[in-house]
Amino acid sequence: MSDKDATETTGADAAGIARAAEILRSGGLVAVPTETVYGLAARADSEEAVAKIYAAKGRPSINPLIVHIASLEQARSLAEFVGHAEEVAAAAWPGALTLVLPRKADAGLASAVSAGLPTIAIRMPAHPTMRALIEASGFPLAAPSANRSNAISPTSAEHVLATLEGRVDLVLDGGTAEKGLESTILAIRHDGSWEELRPGPVDVSLLHQHFFDRPLRPTKAKNGIEAPGQMQRHYSPGKPVRLNAREAASGEFLIGFGAIAGQCSLSESGDLGEAAARLYACLHQAAEAEQPNIAIAPIPDEGVGKAVNDRLRRAAA
Ligand code: TXA
Ligand code: MG
Repeated sequence: MSDKDATETTGADAAGIARAAEILRSGGLVAVPTETVYGLAARADSEEAVAKIYAAKGRPSINPLIVHIASLEQARSLAEFVGHAEEVAAAAWPGALTLVLPRKADAGLASAVSAGLPTIAIRMPAHPTMRALIEASGFPLAAPSANRSNAISPTSAEHVLATLEGRVDLVLDGGTAEKGLESTILAIRHDGSWEELRPGPVDVSLLHQHFFDRPLRPTKAKNGIEAPGQMQRHYSPGKPVRLNAREAASGEFLIGFGAIAGQCSLSESGDLGEAAARLYACLHQAAEAEQPNIAIAPIPDEGVGKAVNDRLRRAAA
């Protein structure tokens, strides 16, 4: 769509999903809630439709997309389930885990989806709206987070409209995303080895311990070669960000946690799951506040707090 076209918003009910499926079938773009963040969906089997995702986001064409599926059968038609992939999928799907696996030659996907890589990122989401939409449209859906490239990820329909109004045909408003952080990304190689490409709501180290009886060794951060979305500067609120702040300095909007209150609190009770769910809402609020700077209270680096700190480091870079 062109910049001046209006974006429709509708509820995530049966009528909204039917309308969204119709738009997707004709090659359009739909923003849709998932349990992690809102996705910007297009049919994954169409070069033209996938090209619209990159254009709407201003996303570099070297940064591949996640393909969302509603059944294991659909997943197996796209990728080779090497190593423990079948068991991992059985344990974590539907849910907030994306698997990067060797891509099948006859997967029938637009080549832009995996940006020339021999692998494909796939996820079976748990959110009923996203699942219903994949089923109603009848093909896998390519969907990055529904924000302009490098901006803060959206956990509500309002966040989507803040950067994509006029760039997406329809927004399905399904309320606030429950997890609030993008999926964990785990690559499983031909030789069965694992690599965590992005920390997220699913604890990959626990899964690794279960299958291999030892924790996953962290890999050295690569400079965006394999997962370009992991580049240092990402999730930018557009203002300088100071981490581990105990109080606000002058000109700072303070995002609190636990006993540190702030103008927006990630979790007054110090709950890390709640902090993950509220992170982007607080960052959006801080971005819009009058203060020119943002300060953020320290977050314990354990459990999903690791994924929160990963996003905070990128917001501050
Ligand atoms: O929770 C999520 O994962 C959300 C919802 C909508 O599903 N999606 C999301 O997509 O966060 P996006 O595009 O913002 O992040 C996808 C990440 C990027 O860092 C990209 O580089 C990486 O996945 N990626 C995609 N395909 C890959 C591949 N074949 N190999 C390695 N990394 C890949
Ligand atoms: Mg993103």
